[in-house]
Amino acid sequence: MVVGELAEQTDLLVIGGGPGGYVAAFRAADLGLQTTLVDESPLLGGICLRAGCIPSKALLHVAHLIDSAAAAKDFGVNFAPPQVDLDRLRAWKQSVVDKLCGGISTLAKKRDVRVIQGRARFEDSRSARVDGETVVRLKFKNAIIATGSRPKRLPEAMLPADCCMDSTGALELSDVPKSLLVIGGGSIGLELGQVYAALGAQVTVVEALDRVLMGCDDDLARVLVARLKKQFAAIYTAAAVETARRVGSQIEVAFTKDGQRQTLKFDRVLVSVGRQPNSDQLGLENTKVVVNSPGFIEVDATRRTSDKRIYAIGDVAGNPMLAHKASREGIVAAEAIAGQPSVFDARAIPAVVYTSPEVAWCGLTEGEAQQRGIEIKVGKFMWGASGRALAMGRPEGLTKIIADAKTNRALGVGIVGEHAGDLIAEAVLAIEMGAEAEDLAATIHPHPSTSETIMEAAESVLGSAIHMLRK
Ligand code: NAI
Repeated sequence: MVVGELAEQTDLLVIGGGPGGYVAAFRAADLGLQTTLVDESPLLGGICLRAGCIPSKALLHVAHLIDSAAAAKDFGVNFAPPQVDLDRLRAWKQSVVDKLCGGISTLAKKRDVRVIQGRARFEDSRSARVDGETVVRLKFKNAIIATGSRPKRLPEAMLPADCCMDSTGALELSDVPKSLLVIGGGSIGLELGQVYAALGAQVTVVEALDRVLMGCDDDLARVLVARLKKQFAAIYTAAAVETARRVGSQIEVAFTKDGQRQTLKFDRVLVSVGRQPNSDQLGLENTKVVVNSPGFIEVDATRRTSDKRIYAIGDVAGNPMLAHKASREGIVAAEAIAGQPSVFDARAIPAVVYTSPEVAWCGLTEGEAQQRGIEIKVGKFMWGASGRALAMGRPEGLTKIIADAKTNRALGVGIVGEHAGDLIAEAVLAIEMGAEAEDLAATIHPHPSTSETIMEAAESVLGSAIHMLRK
């Protein structure tokens, strides 16, 4: 043993302190397992807390505030244009992050979860080496890999690294460029694009596919795009970036749209073309863990890998790469390791894009049902007929329910509109409970609220919604 090297034993080693890893560690500790949590960062919470979900939502809240203040002139209330103090804004965003990360560290301490800062690497199926301030060799009975994902990069020849930033760089908010190109019209690109647009940047989006937000139905995405078109300088779809180079202080980007090559200059470029799992550099070759071609670790319903002592959860264990899916998997893996009969059998995992309006969906989309040849009925309710949406000055919105054509059972729900991300929880529960359109239609919803749009969409599945004329 080298000087400064320690050898220790633990019931459960959890690698990665994000919403997958820390939740798994806490559940395991609550079930009586002696648990060790390893993370490279001194702050627990993972990318989600430090440089993802939470800081982006803090900035989106501010973007929403700026837009709402400007829109108030339509109601006869005039505010002066905002003066943004970027230092204070960054400090506030960081205070939100620090508070949550501190809370998780306290919860870990109170549960007697041992936290080690360092980088873990498997030596075999029973032990891992953690390189931190000292080297720790940990012998474990079980391990959970919860190492998450990192932003995908475009090839250096196409887009030199010094010409662009990823979502982590964008969230640092070092300044607000006059012009920003966003490459990739997925959730990260549109959320951060909206933040920078509200703060005064001229935002352009280039998306390779023929529409943005490919994960959800087109009718939902269209409602968001109508608003984005007013906020962004341009949205180019079916357009792939070919090259970029630095020209003075700007970045010249070339892309082809409708057979025409275009060259535009921007002050900053954000690359948001997806994420890739962190399954490399873990020493998995020293174990029996199987990694498939996109780099995801293969797991069964309890999130156990091909190596029976090792489990994997979250982004590293497959799509969708969403924090709440990781947390649920963490609970399942911890319970399975503790000998409980737990499996990951979610019928619906909600996806939310926290733009304004928000887009949220769960279960089957209409497009997926068509592709799979499933016979469905679709009930829709337009938010223009919702009293609450009108009273908020945000009538743009749509709630749709995708139901089984024979049984009316809810298979999927899609919502676009203010706070759609909160409303979708009812739909997730409905699908998990096997609710039929009749159940949703007969459930008394508070009035006035946008939750009524779920009840009305369910009525529409059944043939007629009270506040909509029959076709
Ligand atoms: P994404 O996969 O959602 O979207 C990336 C987009 O980039 C796709 O539409 C793709 O067609 C496009 N693209 C790829 N290469 C391109 C190129 N060369 N030129 C132009 N367009 C190109 O990825 P995104 O937005 O980076 O998000 C990554 C992950 O993080 C997703 O899995 C998402 O689920 C998760 N996430 C979730 C959030 C949420 O739930 N609100 C927020 C942020 C991220």
